[in-house]
Amino acid sequence: MNKKEQITIISGTNRPNSHTAIIASHIHQHLHSIGRASNLIDLENIDGQMLSNEMYSEAGQHPDIKKIQDDHFEHQTKFIFIAPEYNGSIPGVLKVFIDALSVRKYSETFFHKKACLIGVASGRAGNLRGLDHLGDVLSYLGVILFPAKLPVSRVTDYVDKGEITDPEVKATINKLIDDFLGF
Ligand SMILES: Cc1cc2nc3c(=O)[nH]c(=O)nc-3n(C[C@H](O)[C@H](O)[C@H](O)COP(=O)(O)O)c2cc1C
Repeated sequence: MNKKEQITIISGTNRPNSHTAIIASHIHQHLHSIGRASNLIDLENIDGQMLSNEMYSEAGQHPDIKKIQDDHFEHQTKFIFIAPEYNGSIPGVLKVFIDALSVRKYSETFFHKKACLIGVASGRAGNLRGLDHLGDVLSYLGVILFPAKLPVSRVTDYVDKGEITDPEVKATINKLIDDFLGF
């Protein structure tokens, strides 16, 4: 499979057992079910040591971050970011991850790539404000944003035992992803 056609999904928190990871995994499965290749980058699996005071130079970029960037960002053209709401914005670790990628192959990684943004929150806002923050950062990097941003609010009402239980929420997410594929 041509790497350009692979979609990279970023589960934007390192919190264990996050609801964000459940939504990300649903999207990964949905893409598989419609025959589209995707890779799931779950920040929970990124060791804290990768995000160190060495990380701000190309030479100091952790080899594991380098591998993720070379395998899942450099040649891909579409990214799906799922970002939970932490204190009215995206988790700091997601910004640090983006910063860690930005020290090497800056334009190959971001410039004129396309991104779909999904927010997740236990509260009412569904991280809409955080999606604006994330959108600003990605726009700065030259990423083209899919105009429809999806806030998944009150997520604890819609998931159980690692699955999305509400058919409407599932259908809304699936439709967003299907529309993004045509973007
Ligand atoms: C540090 C932290 C800050 C949070 N701040 C907010 C918030 O500002 N608004 C909100 O609705 N939920 C907030 N939450 C709850 C998350 O929205 C909730 O955990 C939800 O499940 C999405 O996060 P998760 O993917 O880590 O599970 C916060 C959670 C954490 C861990």
